[in-house]
Amino acid sequence: MADLHIDNVSMRFDLPGGGSIQALKNINLDIKSGQLLSVLGPSGCGKTTLLNIVAGFLAQTEGDIRLDGDVISGPGPERGMVFQQGALFEWMSVRKNVSFGPDMKGVPKAESAPEVDRLLELVGLKEFKDKAVYELSGGMQQRVALARCLANDPDVILMDEPLGALDALTREKMQSLVLDLWKETGKTIILITHSVEEALLLGERLLVMAPRPGRVQKEYYLPFAELGVGADLREVKKHPDYNSTREEILSMIWEMEEEIMGRTEGEG
Ligand SMILES: Nc1ncnc2c1ncn2[C@@H]1O[C@H](COP(=O)(O)OP(=O)(O)O)[C@@H](O)[C@H]1O
Ligand SMILES: [Mg+2]
Repeated sequence: MADLHIDNVSMRFDLPGGGSIQALKNINLDIKSGQLLSVLGPSGCGKTTLLNIVAGFLAQTEGDIRLDGDVISGPGPERGMVFQQGALFEWMSVRKNVSFGPDMKGVPKAESAPEVDRLLELVGLKEFKDKAVYELSGGMQQRVALARCLANDPDVILMDEPLGALDALTREKMQSLVLDLWKETGKTIILITHSVEEALLLGERLLVMAPRPGRVQKEYYLPFAELGVGADLREVKKHPDYNSTREEILSMIWEMEEEIMGRTEGEG
């Protein structure tokens, strides 16, 4: 089980020259075990800050977060992170990257090796296990990152724009992989993205955040992630509600961006 309760969380960054930024204000969220939550919003609305607080990398200034009732007060193995890129050991083999967590915990190789093999198969990298990470394409590197995260068997997977650096075609394949992994593992997943399409396709629940202060503007419960498991995502996009929801969210974000631009111009 991995029920996440985010209770009235606010985050204020004090600036060195005085003043402060209210990055998050009164965030309340109940995320049920096994939920796939996508988070969308303009730059600077606090998405990364929220994820870092859930990861335990940052301490919120108000409120608290509980995972199955236990207060989160720092990083822990039950929460795994997948970054956009650059978090792998490039000179090490794929297999070594994936077994890094179990190795650090002192799990004997005989015990971890079959699981590492299973994960490499799951993400489609079985034939590449002895390659060095720097030899792989960006999409394959993100597969390694996913497998490495899963090797620690976290209850919650936190992803900060994990597919943001990939080309369109690779990204589509990886979106399918994320859905397959979600179904296969039953993990709770929070996925941040800049892409409205990605948020729609991958979030059975989707949060739209607004900036200054960072807050939840609107949330949706959507059928597309469930429909997309093992299916062609392009077919899912033909669902009658897909385009209308996409248009609604796009104009919401456009409005926010315009407001930000207006304010910035006013300040300058
Ligand atoms: N360490 C920090 N110190 C000061 N301000 C920060 C810090 N981290 C983030 N911020 C500010 O908090 C706001 C939210 O940032 P962030 O969470 O990175 O947004 P997002 O990921 O949605 O683009 C922004 O205004 C950003 O400049
Ligand atoms: Mg961010």
